[in-house]
Amino acid sequence: METVKETDTIVLLDPEKGKKYFLNLSLTKGKFNTEKGEIDLSQLVGMPYGSVVKTHKGHPYVLLPCSLYEYIMFKLNRLTQIVYPKDAAYILLRLDVKPGDLVVESGIGSGALTAVFAQAVGDTGKVISYEKREEFIKNALSNLRRVGLDSRVEVKHRDISEGFDEEEEADALFLDVREPWLYLESAYSALKPGRFMGILVPTANQVIETLKGLEKLPFIDLEVSEILLRKYKTVPERFRPEDRMPAHTAYLIFARKVPEGVLS
Ligand SMILES: C[S@@+](CC[C@H](N)C(=O)[O-])C[C@H]1O[C@@H](n2cnc3c(N)ncnc32)[C@H](O)[C@@H]1O
Repeated sequence: METVKETDTIVLLDPEKGKKYFLNLSLTKGKFNTEKGEIDLSQLVGMPYGSVVKTHKGHPYVLLPCSLYEYIMFKLNRLTQIVYPKDAAYILLRLDVKPGDLVVESGIGSGALTAVFAQAVGDTGKVISYEKREEFIKNALSNLRRVGLDSRVEVKHRDISEGFDEEEEADALFLDVREPWLYLESAYSALKPGRFMGILVPTANQVIETLKGLEKLPFIDLEVSEILLRKYKTVPERFRPEDRMPAHTAYLIFARKVPEGVLS
């Protein structure tokens, strides 16, 4: 049975309204004020997840572990744009990231995608993240530490215009930088033949520049895609889409490396 540890990030969910509170128990201690009364957080450690805890006024909240999706959406400290879960989930499968893999990425930003990669590669895998800005590295590592994924991530404080380290043979490579077309050759060198590179860019102009760059290198199996996620109200009597929907987050580009010379 999974029980609450004193370093956990937990969710307290009001079953009536669906409202959730996200709390990191190493940072928030003592009495916590919900809109329906106080909960004494010290009583939660050791309780099984799924338990119901009551406020001092007797209102129930369900005690739940915070999922990585919830953490990224509601708790991760954002200093940069992040890769949203709808995109990250597709990226993971499209790059075929598995336990034991070495994933190389740049930059770390706030560590949202890094966390998704780190969870997928498991204890035997590793994520190497190249990032040029120290303040982002500090923040991202703190975000990763709070979900226990920092030990699977090695950060290299470097601008990728200096290239990726030669010893690296990535099972998957991802670029989330402003001008990815400048780094395609380095990315090509760092990737294992047959494996996938993914790139995320917010504008169509960046997609076009990247495609021009990819044409010059032995990458095949190109795809440009965009993921649209529509959420629905979960009331059976009035089942319909939510009123608002993010219209655009980013374009995704995927390509597969083949050895030099095979296409000529
Ligand atoms: C949009 S953020 C990445 C967001 C990240 N994928 C996430 O999900 O949180 C882009 C990051 O790339 C870094 N960056 C941009 N160009 C770079 C370069 N040439 N070398 C290393 N890092 C770079 C930026 O400093 C920034 O942290």
